[in-house]
This record gives sequence, structure tokens and C-alpha cells, in this order.
Amino acid sequence: MLKKILKVTLKVVGLLVLAVALAYAYISINVSSRMNKVYAVNAATLDLPKDKTILGNGKRLYTIKGCADCHGADLGGKVVFDDPAVGRITSANLTSGKGGLPANYEVKDWVRALRHGIGQDSKPLLVMPSHDIYKLSDNDMAAIIAYCRSQKPVDRDLPDIEIRPVGKVLTALDKIPMLSAEMIDHNYKAPAEMLPEISPAYGEYLAVACTGCHHENLKGGESPVPGGKSVPDITASGAVGKWSESQFVNTLRTGVRPNGVKLSSEMPWQMTKGYNDTEIKALYAYLKSKK
Ligand code: HEC
Ligand code: HEC
Repeated sequence: MLKKILKVTLKVVGLLVLAVALAYAYISINVSSRMNKVYAVNAATLDLPKDKTILGNGKRLYTIKGCADCHGADLGGKVVFDDPAVGRITSANLTSGKGGLPANYEVKDWVRALRHGIGQDSKPLLVMPSHDIYKLSDNDMAAIIAYCRSQKPVDRDLPDIEIRPVGKVLTALDKIPMLSAEMIDHNYKAPAEMLPEISPAYGEYLAVACTGCHHENLKGGESPVPGGKSVPDITASGAVGKWSESQFVNTLRTGVRPNGVKLSSEMPWQMTKGYNDTEIKALYAYLKSKK
């Protein structure tokens, strides 16, 4: 009797192991074919400005759009995330130094990366959040690219990106924003220029930078970081709906909410701290208008 139970148990366990192995094989193939997909996008080139004030704006955008958080203030790149089960994510060295961008990396390669989330080899970039960036106006985009290309070379060889089993499963389930190229409207026509003004329209333009974490509709939900804190609703139906404009400005500048509770470090208020008054007030106008 005992022998029989043991036999059946072994069989069940064996079948389960087989099912898990098959599911994982399926996921691996699915994820690797998405990561190796070749995209035929038409990345236009842009005329880059040379004057100093525009480079200054590019520098500011580099910080307030979060590039510095991942690529570093020196543009040399770093290990952004490393977990034995999920994977190791290294951002690129964006300079012309050792370990940096290839010598033939042209303006249109920058545009392909930033507007489409695709590398020089036409395959998707991993974890690079181009879906938060691609709607930038031509002017702002050109300013960021001109600034990046004017920076000093940094010699830094970074280890390769490695997506490990849990990372693949999370990608297959669309639980992490691995493949920005899949979230982008590749036919989107960006405005040539956006005039800075305190208006919901300008706020909407800026709020694209918040959608990567607060979700497309800004109503919050699951964190984009595995195991991260859930992300709050920041529209009129959330706490922001009850805050005054000055309370909102203060929160995004100091990292402390009106009720005294600090924002966790997962909310990049060090980035929003650098927004000017027009930008923060426009964001407020837009978020308040969004039911
Ligand atoms: C969440 C982290 C993150 C942020 C924010 C981010 N990047 Fe990246 N970026 C990456 C990673 C990771 C890669 C490498 C992707 C790969 O190799 O598959 C990358 C790749 C790139 C590339 C392509 C390099 C190449 O080898 O083709 C460019 C260009 C780039 N980033 C520029 C920027 C700029 C400019 C910004 C701000 C507007 C920015 N990134 C914001 C993580 C980030
Ligand atoms: C990298 C992810 C990330 C990005 C990008 C991001 N946020 Fe957040 N945000 C968070 C997280 C996580 C919290 C919750 C923090 C906590 O619980 O302490 C948060 C909290 C907030 C809060 C407080 C809401 C409340 O209910 O208390 C506001 C306001 C806010 N974010 C506004 C913004 C705006 C505006 C942008 C875009 C300019 C933005 N966030 C971009 C992750 C992000």
C-alpha cells in the first residue's frame, strides 16, 4: 500500500516538474523572440542646436527626465539593478569613451533609441524607458541629444545585461517594463515645439514622464519594479485632488506630503525638485483636471 502511494506521489511530482519545465521553456522562447525582434522604424534625424542656452536646457532636461538616475550625472552608465533571480540591468555608457557608444553612433541612432526604444541593431533596448520619453517635442529632444553629445568621454566598461529566470517570467506576464518598444506608438508625430505655460495641455505633455510608474491613466496600481511599493493615484480622484497648488508644489520639491508623511525614495522627487514653477503648476492643472 505504502509503496503504491509512493509511486503515485512520485508520478504526480514528476508530472508537475515536467509541466513547470515546459512552461518555463515556452516563456523563455516567447521572451527571447520578443527581445530579438527586428523593428523597421523610420528614425528621422534632427538638427542639433549649438548655442549655449539650448545646451543648458538639454542639461536640465537630462536631469528632470530621469536620464541621470540611470545613466549617471557623468553619462558613463552604471549597474541600475542587480538581483540573483530577476537579472542584472546595466544602463549604457552614453559617452564616446572606452565602453561607450560606438564611433558611428549618429544623431538618428539617438532618435531611434529615444523615440522608438530600439538600438542600432534594430532590436529593442531593454528597460530603457523610451515610452516615457518619445513624445518630447523635437526641440526638447534635440536639446537633450546635443547636450549628451557635447559631454566629455568617460572610460567605463559595464557588464552585459542579463535577464534571469524570474525576470523572464515577469516579462512574459508584462509585470515589468522590459520592452519599451512594445509600448510605443511608432507612428507618433511629435510636436516641433511645446510652449511652456501653466495649462493642462502643457501639464499633459510633462506627465508622460509620470506614466511609467503611475500608469498610463495616472490612476496608480502595481509598481514597475519587482517587489516595489504600489503606486498611488495622482489624478483628481487621489490625494492630489485634495491638495492646493502650493501644497502640490511643496510636495514635489521637498519630498514631504502636506500631512507630513515623507515620499519613499521610489518616488523620484529629487527629479521633480528640479522642475520650475511653470512645469509643476502645469502638472497640477492637468492632474486636477483629470477625473
Ligand atoms: C530606468 C533607467 C533608464 C532611464 C531613466 C534612461 N535610460 Fe537610457 N538606457 C537604460 C538602459 C538599461 C539602457 C541599455 C539598454 C540595452 O542595452 O538594451 C539604455 C540605453 C540608452 C541608449 C542606447 C544606447 C545604445 O547602446 O544604443 C540611449 C541613447 C539612452 N539610453 C539615452 C537615455 C536618455 C537621453 C535618457 C533620458 C531622456 C535615458 N536614456 C533614460 C536605462 C535608462
Ligand atoms: C520611478 C517611479 C515613479 C515616477 C517616474 C513618478 N512617481 Fe510619483 N510616486 C511613485 C511612488 C512609488 C509613490 C509612492 C511613494 C510613497 O508611498 O511614499 C509616488 C507618489 C507620488 C505622489 C504622492 C501621492 C499620494 O497619494 O500621496 C505624487 C503627488 C506623485 N508621486 C507625483 C508624481 C508626478 C507628478 C510624476 C511625474 C512628473 C511622478 N510622480 C513620477 C513613483 C513614481
